[in-house]
Amino acid sequence: MKTIFSGIKPTGTVTLGNYLGAMKHFVNLQDGHDAYYCVVDLHSITVDIDRVELMNNTRALAALYIASGLNPEKSTIFVQSEVKAHAQLGWMLTCLSGMGELERMTQYKDKSQGKDRIGAGLFVYPTLMAADILLYDAELVPVGDDQKQHIELTRDLAQRFNSRYYETFTLPEPIIAESGARIMSLTTPDKKMSKSDQNPKGFISMLDAPDVIRKKVKSAVTDSEGIVKFDRENKPGVSNLLEIYSLLAGISIPDLETKYEGSNYGTFKADVAEAIISELEPIQQRYYELIDSEELDQILDAGRDRAEAVAAKKLAKIEKAMGLQRKRAKVKK
Ligand code: TYM
Repeated sequence: MKTIFSGIKPTGTVTLGNYLGAMKHFVNLQDGHDAYYCVVDLHSITVDIDRVELMNNTRALAALYIASGLNPEKSTIFVQSEVKAHAQLGWMLTCLSGMGELERMTQYKDKSQGKDRIGAGLFVYPTLMAADILLYDAELVPVGDDQKQHIELTRDLAQRFNSRYYETFTLPEPIIAESGARIMSLTTPDKKMSKSDQNPKGFISMLDAPDVIRKKVKSAVTDSEGIVKFDRENKPGVSNLLEIYSLLAGISIPDLETKYEGSNYGTFKADVAEAIISELEPIQQRYYELIDSEELDQILDAGRDRAEAVAAKKLAKIEKAMGLQRKRAKVKK
């Protein structure tokens, strides 16, 4: 059975992009794998975030994991900061990394652009992500397209560690689904849908009410051609809606093009909105049952204990490999 690790940051709301690019795959992959799904709160403090907001987001994301279908009997669901080994290994891997390779990370470049003050945490972010993955010897990491480079760095760091010390880490592979890996913004369809978008019309939150979803999809940027056709380059807005619709309804894009031949964007958009609503409604219902429940705490406590046991054992091996031990070594006189 292969081991899987993945995580989502509790930085803001969870978007339809996170759901289609990551969470939906987490659910499909939990069968037949030893899966770890983490709420990566230590990654959220790489940017300024209010403490109460972070606490609320952490709990909300954990509840959404379960409401979307992650089953605690099959998957280990836990909060990153509760397993201390993540931060410890993060530091060790930071020491193994070069400034140059971290500077080349596109996510760092995007997030630091135009900022007066760039946090050091944002810079070393990928080494913590590498620690998350390597602690569990994860072989597979399901992510959206934007995380591919971080997984390549994780492989480089694992290889560097293995050759500098001794064979310790398994090299992970990303799993990037062919569709859904890059859901675009509804207002600027040449940019990915992001929870940090200043304009809430750009993203659908997994907790948006049906009417909000209808309004957002109705105002989604399209084009003036009036033809429902997939063409990423020339019709990014319509193509994005087609991709979302296709993934949710399980209808192929060519079949959708045929279905909407001769109809206008209004009808098409109304159906896209209903497809989103019918996917999210049962998830939201379960979310509201879970969010203030004892059940959620029990699941996260059990997840932490399970993850902790695996991580502590691995960390001890890593410390031994690096010489982080007080053990007596032979001294030549
Ligand atoms: P984060 O929190 O930004 O996003 C979580 C997951 O959602 C995917 N995603 C998208 N997929 C499709 N379309 C979009 N518009 C979209 N926006 C986000 C992301 O690719 C990601 O898979 N660094 C990670 C979190 C992380 C992690 C890890 C992931 C920390 N440690 C270890 C895997 C393994 C991040 O920022 O994800």
